[in-house]
Amino acid sequence: MMYTQSEIVELKKIAVDHICPHFASNMEISKCPKIFTKGEGCYIYDIEGKKYLDTFASLMTTVCGHNRQEIKDAIISQLDEMEFFPNYTDTYSVPQVKLSAKIAEIMPGDLSVCFFVNSGSEACETAIKMAKQYHWAKGEKQRYKIISRRHSYHGTTLGGISATGLQWFRQYFQPLIPGFIHSVATNCSKCELDCDSASCGLACLKSMEKLILWEDPNSVAAVIIDPIPGSNTGYPVPPDGYLQGLRQLCDNYGILLIFDEVQTGFGKTGKMFACEHWNVVPDIMAIGKGFSGGYIPLGATILTPKIYEVFKNAPGTEF
Ligand SMILES: Cc1ncc(COP(=O)(O)O)c(C=O)c1O
Repeated sequence: MMYTQSEIVELKKIAVDHICPHFASNMEISKCPKIFTKGEGCYIYDIEGKKYLDTFASLMTTVCGHNRQEIKDAIISQLDEMEFFPNYTDTYSVPQVKLSAKIAEIMPGDLSVCFFVNSGSEACETAIKMAKQYHWAKGEKQRYKIISRRHSYHGTTLGGISATGLQWFRQYFQPLIPGFIHSVATNCSKCELDCDSASCGLACLKSMEKLILWEDPNSVAAVIIDPIPGSNTGYPVPPDGYLQGLRQLCDNYGILLIFDEVQTGFGKTGKMFACEHWNVVPDIMAIGKGFSGGYIPLGATILTPKIYEVFKNAPGTEF
C-alpha cells in the first residue's frame, strides 16, 4: 500500500504521541520514527519504501524470514475454522495438539509436555512458577528461592526481571520479588572472578555451588540460566563442563534446572537448542521468539513427564 506524504507525517505523529514503545529511546523517538509496512525474506521496507536488511531478525525472532506464503496460508486456514478458544481445564485445539507432538519430537531428552503462553517472558515466568509449585506439591514448601546469573536476561515480567541480572532492567522496580539470588556470569573474556580460563578449573561453577550451600540447598527451588546468554552480553559461550556440572549440582541438591532458550532456541546456535552442544537436558525449558518466527505471539514452557506427573497426580495439585 502506498501512502501520501501527508498521511506519512500524520501516522508518524500519531505513533510518537500515542504509542509508548518497548525499550523506548527518547534520543531516537522523535528524531526519525520509522514505520515498517512490508517484509520479504530477510528484508523489511519502511512506509517511505526504503529497504533494510533485517540483520537483527526482528529482535532475534523471524528465523524463517518475513512473509512466508506457507505460514500465512496455514494461519489463514486456521482463522477460517476458529480464531481462539482457551486451552482451559480439558479443552484443546487440533493445531495445538499437533504442535505439542512436534515439540516432543524436536526437544532434547524427555522434555515433552507443553504449557503454551504468548511470549518468552511469560514462558520464563511460568517456568519459575512451575518450579515453585512442583516443590510445594511434593511437600517441600520451603524451596522458594530461584538462582539465576548476573548479566542474563529473562524477560520483562516482574518474575523475569527478578531473575534478570542486568541492573538497568531492575533498578526502577526495586524491591523485586523476594528469594531471587544471582550467581556469577560465565563470561570467560570478562571473568567476574578474574580467572584465567585455561587454569580456572570452572571457578564459576564452584562459586555457584558455594552460593547454593550458603543459601541452604533445601531452600532453593530452581536455577534458571540461558545456556548461552544473549544479545545484552555478546553471547559468551560457557566453558565446557559448566552446564554438565550445573546439571549435576542441581541433581545432587534436588533443585530443578530451567533453561531459558527463548533467544538461543530453534537453530540459532547450529543445533536446534543451545543445550544440545553439551548434551545437557534441563527439567524445564522456556521457548519463544523463533518458536513462531514472529507470525503469531507464541511461547511455551516445556516440562519433563517427571515434573508434569506431580501436577497431574491428584485433584488439587494441578498447575
Ligand atoms: C533469553 C531471553 N529470555 C526471555 C526473553 C523475553 O521474551 P519476550 O520478549 O518474547 O517476552 C528474551 C527476549 O529477548 C530473551 O532473549
